[in-house]
Amino acid sequence: MIAGNWKMHLGPAEARTFLEGLSLGDVPAQQELLIFPPSVTLASLVADPSRPARVQVGIQNIHWEDQGAFTGEVSAGMAAEVGATFALIGHSERRHVFGETDEEVSLKVTAAYRHGLVPVVCVGETLEERRAGRVDEVILRQLDAALSAFPAQGRVLLAYEPVWAIGTGETATPQDASAAHATLRRRLTDALGVAKAREVAILYGGSVKPANAAELLDATDVDGVLVGGASLDPESFARIASAGS
Ligand code: PGA
Repeated sequence: MIAGNWKMHLGPAEARTFLEGLSLGDVPAQQELLIFPPSVTLASLVADPSRPARVQVGIQNIHWEDQGAFTGEVSAGMAAEVGATFALIGHSERRHVFGETDEEVSLKVTAAYRHGLVPVVCVGETLEERRAGRVDEVILRQLDAALSAFPAQGRVLLAYEPVWAIGTGETATPQDASAAHATLRRRLTDALGVAKAREVAILYGGSVKPANAAELLDATDVDGVLVGGASLDPESFARIASAGS
């Protein structure tokens, strides 16, 4: 899975320009592709005739309630109604800029399933936590909160995104990524059993770009990438997507 998180970039007009410039000729047919646009761009991106059918669309954040007096929020049902099929949940900017808690992440996972959205749950430690040797403790606490909301059936993806590597140009080494992914996979195996744990794709995110995508995608236990800045340019997104072959 190659997923692009556009964050607060690319409104509807810019998204149209992105699609016009997107050429997937070199991207292997089995490669899954996904874009998380801003929510005001969602409906037009889904409906845009120049969107290749293989490029799926997700929402960057949902509220856990279906409706109500929550000014500025969007529900999972509303995102599904306009064609989103995935929901990014617990991205580090949600956690650290907007104060989202593990409990809210768990409620959002439940809300995503209620409306047929596949959750992509993000976990990751800060630099301080890494320096204190607390990587496993932090990412397992975040995973456990989300795990409590996983249904017996249903697809889920995880994204390991060390906070210190997001938007900083600092990338985790493939070994760092593999180690964290293995920790997550072990917990998934304990909680869900071997077969179901194996079905959970674990993406790496944090300063992924065309120059480092191949080595990260080749790393053990890395099943894909979640790309921020480098997903805004169609050529760079396509180059990352073709690095997975
Ligand atoms: P970045 O962002 O690739 O710009 O570091 C990744 C993310 O936040 O998903």
